[in-house]
Order: sequence, then structure tokens, then C-alpha cells
Amino acid sequence: MSEIAKLELNGKTYEFPVTEGTEKEKAIDISKLRDLTGYITMDQGYKNTGSCYSNITFLDGELGILKYRGYTIEELAEKSNFLEVSYLLIFGKLPSKTELEKFENGIRKYSLVHEEMKNIIDGFPKTAHPMGVLASLTSALTAFNPKSVNANNESEMFEAVCKTMSKFLVIATWTYRKNKGYPLNYYDNTKNYVENFMQLMFSLPTGPYKIDPVVVSALDKLFILHADHEQNCSTSTVRIVGSSHAGLFASISAGVSALWGPLHGGANQAVLEMLEEIKDNGGDVAKYILKAKDKDDPFRLMGFGHRVYKNFDPRAKIIKKAADDVLDTLGIDDPILEIAKQLEKAALEDDYFKSRNLYPNVDFYSGIIYRALGIPTDMFTVMFAIGRLPGWIAQWKEMRLNKEPIGRPRQIYTGNVGLQYVDINQR
Ligand code: SDX
Repeated sequence: MSEIAKLELNGKTYEFPVTEGTEKEKAIDISKLRDLTGYITMDQGYKNTGSCYSNITFLDGELGILKYRGYTIEELAEKSNFLEVSYLLIFGKLPSKTELEKFENGIRKYSLVHEEMKNIIDGFPKTAHPMGVLASLTSALTAFNPKSVNANNESEMFEAVCKTMSKFLVIATWTYRKNKGYPLNYYDNTKNYVENFMQLMFSLPTGPYKIDPVVVSALDKLFILHADHEQNCSTSTVRIVGSSHAGLFASISAGVSALWGPLHGGANQAVLEMLEEIKDNGGDVAKYILKAKDKDDPFRLMGFGHRVYKNFDPRAKIIKKAADDVLDTLGIDDPILEIAKQLEKAALEDDYFKSRNLYPNVDFYSGIIYRALGIPTDMFTVMFAIGRLPGWIAQWKEMRLNKEPIGRPRQIYTGNVGLQYVDINQR
């Protein structure tokens, strides 16, 4: 017997069906609420509101569990690679060798970015933030690939996925190259996806570029850990923009802009800036813990807290260990890492953070690794976007294949009522 939710309103009882997911999550289906009662619900920030049914990612914030298509993040981070995980998220299963090869060759086939895209990036000042440039260039890709993809046509969708995966990676590195005054690089079809990130970013025409396998392995793991995360702010943005039947590049561009915010993906840059400030102020961790607790101080401990995880972010645990390993392997003794560990210890012992279930999130340690790998701070959120790209694509594709309606939330009006127009000469 399926569960029913009852609502008592003005002496009447309304019944709503309860739906249950494959991981035993439950939702009250209120899709008929307004028709039946004339009322809507209110849930600012959607803390209690589901927007869709999805087969892609599952996370349990209380238990600190994260799974992509049923596989745990721990297993995928240890045994898989970013391109295989991208395939898993987008196409719903781990690929065979042939399928993975077809995917990699599809990415290589579309890895050239139209030369006239360089005229667009030339229009930006060197000081432009890479995320703003990336959002613009991603949207501009529509101008050079105007045919909107029919998500129901398998080969069209496969081509759009490969185009997005390859061209996005190339343009994401262009922002760094422009900022440094370096020539823009091309994807190298003789290298794999993550190796290409390194050569796109750092290879120079003046001589050979040696790709460090330790760095590639660390980045591959970081990209896996960022690949998808249910209906977070940027993914929900991609879905709602795509629900108007806007194209894939336009929807991804909107996701890039949402991710840029310091409360979301911009936090990894904000964490490093915070740790640098603590270091420059003599490493006084206690002072910053007090600031974070002070309601009159807008300062928040960046990289701490999460809308859903009320326990350790499982990604943070894996990244913390990777940070130790990468710095060890590269022989880097970064005082920032020590400050991060002191900050984490102090916060986890402090009742303010414990009582609010504020733990380190994915952004707390990732910036330390990026810095060790030579990635500049203002490119950290671009790294997040590269990792999150397959998740955005997968969620956009699912939304379109499920023929979901255009997203259009309701509101409660609290403005002026019954005003009469007054001619400007009487105002
Ligand atoms: C990401 O959603 C996702 O899945 C996101 C993400 C993904 O993979 O897509 O995981 C990636 O965005 C991780 C989060 C990165 N952001 C930061 O690290 C920024 C710092 N964190 C916060 O601003 C905050 O924790 C949020 C935005 C992440 C979550 O905010 P919520 O769930 O809306 O919580 P809240 O703002 O209602 O805070 C609850 C309480 C408040 O105190 P009280 O009013 O109860 O007294 O906790 C406090 C907040 O002031 N609080 C913090 C804090 N985070 C929350 N206090 C100090 N420092 C913090 N970081």
C-alpha cells in the first residue's frame, strides 16, 4: 500500500501521493496542490523541494555518501578515470573499451575551435576574470555551431556531447593563456583528455613540454570528484535554462555563471585567498574562527558548510589525502596546507561549527592541490567547471529526454496593492 500525505486546510482534508526513490528517499508529490487548494508552497532556496526525478547521481548528506549512477565516489576515484566517469554520467553505464575509444575519438574529431573565436577572446581585457570569459566563450560556441541538438537523436546527441567536451576544455585554457600573453594552444589528438588540459595550459612554442604523470593523475581524480552533484545551484541552472529548449552551449554557459559565485564553485578561489590572508596575518587561525562566528561580521569560513552534507563531504576526505600525496610527491612543503589543517581542526572542535554541522567541503582542499600543480588562483573555479562539465551535460540530456516541462516557479506577491496612476505633472 503506497503512502499518502494528508493536508488539513480550512476544515478540508487533501491527500497527496508519496513517491520513493531507489535509495529510499521519499517525496510528497504536490503537483496538484494549487488546483486542489488554491495554495502554493514556499521554500526559499529549495532546501526541502525536489525539482526532478534523476538516475544520475545520489548523495546522502547525513551519511556523507556520493554515488554516480550507483557507483560510490570512493571506488570511481580509486579505479576509474575522468573520461570513463564522464561517459558513465552522460550515457548511463561504464563503457566497454570500444565505446570509450569511440568517445575519445569523437572528442578528438571536434577538438578544433573555430579560429574566429580568437577574435572574441581578443576583445576581453587581460584583467577579465576567467570565469566571465569562459561563460561568454561557451555561449559564443553557439554562433559557430548553430544547429540545436535533438536530444532524442542518438548520433546528434553523441556529436553534441563530444563537441562540448572538447571545445569547452580548449576555451577554458585560453583565458589563462591570454592573461599570460601566451599564444593559444590547440588540442593535441595524440594525447588523452587530462594530458591535453596540461599541454593546452602550459606548453610553449619555444620547446617541448613534459607532462608529469603525477600531476595528470591528481587532476584526473579531482575532475572525477567534481563531475556531478545532484541539483546544486549550477546544475539546476543548466536544467532550468535547458527546459526552455535553449541549446546545450547556452545552458552550459548559464551553469558557468552560476558556478562562479563565491558561495558555490567560486569558493575554491575564496578558500585560497582566505588561507593566504591568514598566513599573511601571522597564521592566527583563532582570529578567523571568531570572525566566522561573529554575526556582525560578513566573513564566512570559505570551504566550510554545505547545503546538503551535514557530515563530512566524502569528496573533501579524498581530496585531503590527495593533497598530502601530491605535495609529498612533488616535494612541496606548503605552509598553506598546514594552516588549512589547523583551521579544520580548530573549527571541528568548536561548538559553533559542530552545532551547525559545518564540515570542510569539496572546495576546502582542492585549491591547495591546484596551487601545487601550478594553476593560478583565479583559474581554480575554471578547474571546477571542467570537472563539472560532464555532469551538466548528463543532467541537461536527462531533462530533455524526460521531456520535462519548462521550469517556472510561483511566488507570493508582497508589493503595493490598488495604486491609481498619477500623471507626472502631479507627482
Ligand atoms: C559547493 O550544492 C552543492 O552540491 C554544491 C557543491 C557542488 O559540488 O556543486 O558541493 C559545491 O558549492 C560547495 C559549497 C562551497 N561554498 C562555500 O564553501 C562557501 C561557505 N559556505 C557557506 O556560505 C554555506 O555553508 C553554504 C552556502 C555552502 C550552505 O549554506 P546554507 O545551507 O544555505 O546554510 P545557511 O547559510 O543557512 O547557514 C546555516 C548556519 C547559519 O548560521 P545561523 O543563522 O544558523 O546562526 O550556518 C552558518 C550560517 O551563518 N554558516 C556558516 C558557514 N556556512 C554556514 N558560518 C560560518 N562559515 C560558514 N562557511
